Amino acid sequence: MTIIFAHRGSSGTHPENTFAAYKEAVRVGAEGIELDVQLTKDDELVVIHDHTVGRTTNGTGFVRDYTLEELQRLDAGAWFHERFQGERIPVLKEVFTWMQSNDLILNIELKNVTVDLPCLEELVLNEIESFNLADRIIISTFDHYSLKKINELNPKIECAILYLEKLYEPWNYAANIGAKGLHTHSPKTDRVMIKEAERRGFPVRVYTVNHEERIKELLEDGCSAIFTDYPEKALAVRKMVDK
Ligand code: G3P
Ligand code: MG
Repeated sequence: MTIIFAHRGSSGTHPENTFAAYKEAVRVGAEGIELDVQLTKDDELVVIHDHTVGRTTNGTGFVRDYTLEELQRLDAGAWFHERFQGERIPVLKEVFTWMQSNDLILNIELKNVTVDLPCLEELVLNEIESFNLADRIIISTFDHYSLKKINELNPKIECAILYLEKLYEPWNYAANIGAKGLHTHSPKTDRVMIKEAERRGFPVRVYTVNHEERIKELLEDGCSAIFTDYPEKALAVRKMVDK
């Protein structure tokens, strides 16, 4: 069965990367959540997509220039709709604590490709270990050196290459750095590649798919997972296709 990941939570209907969006994803029945992790000035792990806070909070400037305490004073919900006022930027630890009360799979995307975030890998791995969540987590990033490092530090954690364009035999490329999953950009993902990768045991998870027609195609192609801003819609399409 193709698993449905709520991309940044149910971010089509709720403010991305907030607990409101994550709880909505659980409510509608998504099996997984994707979120983006960065470091604060005082090296705390926080969940936010952009390197600046301006688009998704009432603050300005770079995430990396804020301490955790300062960052948590920002409102991360009102920009989306006033009824979400009071939402905060989540700390990764809070997400892990919340995961004790559900059975979600979590894809942690490390936002370390254009900004240098030293020791991000070690900090994330330590946190996963202290919550005993290794078998429910997939780590991905566009920085494939970082994935290789994670694989060397802890080969038990599943890593996935995140990429935009087509790769030639991506399963060979992934295997070379110890990664298993292929997180592929929907417009650059085709049926032949999906079938071959899945046959070889490399799960293909496709981002970010919001149109019903494309969701249906990918379900029929048999990819392992889809990332979508609208998990409720994707689950309804999956129900129809399964009939
Ligand atoms: O992890 C899939 C997807 O989230 C990658 O792109 O920019 O939405 O984080 P972005
Ligand atoms: Mg992401």
